[in-house]
Amino acid sequence: MLSIKNLEAGYGKVKVLHGISIDVPKGQVVTLIGSNGAGKTTTMRAITGMIKPTGGEVVMAGENISGYDSYQIARLGLAHSPEGRRVFTNMTITDNLLLGAFPRFTGKRPKGDIKHDLERALEMFPRLKERRNQLSGTLSGGEQQMLAMARAVMLNPEIILLDEPSMGLAPILVEEVFKIISSLKSQGVTMLLVEQFAAAALEVADYGYVMENGKIATHGPAEKLKVDPAVKAAYLGGSH
Ligand SMILES: Nc1ncnc2c1ncn2[C@@H]1O[C@H](COP(=O)(O)OP(=O)(O)OP(=O)(O)O)[C@@H](O)[C@H]1O
Ligand SMILES: [Mg+2]
Repeated sequence: MLSIKNLEAGYGKVKVLHGISIDVPKGQVVTLIGSNGAGKTTTMRAITGMIKPTGGEVVMAGENISGYDSYQIARLGLAHSPEGRRVFTNMTITDNLLLGAFPRFTGKRPKGDIKHDLERALEMFPRLKERRNQLSGTLSGGEQQMLAMARAVMLNPEIILLDEPSMGLAPILVEEVFKIISSLKSQGVTMLLVEQFAAAALEVADYGYVMENGKIATHGPAEKLKVDPAVKAAYLGGSH
C-alpha cells in the first residue's frame, strides 16, 4: 500500500531523515517507535507532502508520490491525523468532519455516501457526537485530538497516518482511542501509527520500526519487537 525507500528530508539545511525505508502492507497496522526528536513526525510530514523529501521515494499503491503536494496526496486516499491536532477551531465539529471528506469530491476515488460516513464517524466518537454543533475551539485538547482522528477517518482513506493520537488524553480516553484503532483495523483500514505508548502500539500493530536519530535502528513483527530486550529496555519501560 505504502512503501518508503531511502527517504531523506529535513528543515532548511538541517537533515533529519537519513535514508528511511518503511513498508506498510495493505490492511496492516505498522507502528513507528522512537524517542522524542527521533524523526517520527518528520517522516509523516515527508510522506504527506507537508515537507518535500530531498532524497528517496514514497510510493503509494504503485504511484511515486514523492514531491506531490499534500492536497494531491489526500485525493489519492492518504489521510493524516497530525501531531498537535490542528483542527479548525472557529468551525463546528460537523464542519471539521465534512472538511475531512472534501478531497473525496475532487479526486478520482468514489465519493461514497458522505452523510452516512459522518454519522458513522460520530458513532465511533460519542464525545464528538454529543458536541457536533459546537465550535471546535470549545473542545478540550484531548477532544480536539479525537476530532483530528475522526476527520482523517472521514476521507474514507486507503491509509491513515496517525501521529500520537493519544497525546494529552486521560487514561480512559487513551483506551478508547486504542479501541477505535483496533476497530478500524478489523474493518481492514491500513495504518501507520506513531504512539508514545509503544507497548500498546505494538499490541495493535502487525509490524514495527524503531527509529533513532533519523534512521531505522531495527524492525520486525510486533510480536518479536515486544520481547526484544533492547526494545523493551529503551521503549517499553519496566512496567509494561
Ligand atoms: N519545523 C521544524 N523546523 C526545524 N526543525 C524541526 C522542525 N520540526 C522538527 N524539527 C527537528 O527535527 C528533529 C525530529 O523531530 P520530529 O518532530 O520529527 O521528532 P519526533 O520523533 O516526532 O519526536 P516527538 O516524539 O517528540 O514527537 C528534531 O531534532 C526537531 O528539533
Ligand atoms: Mg512527533
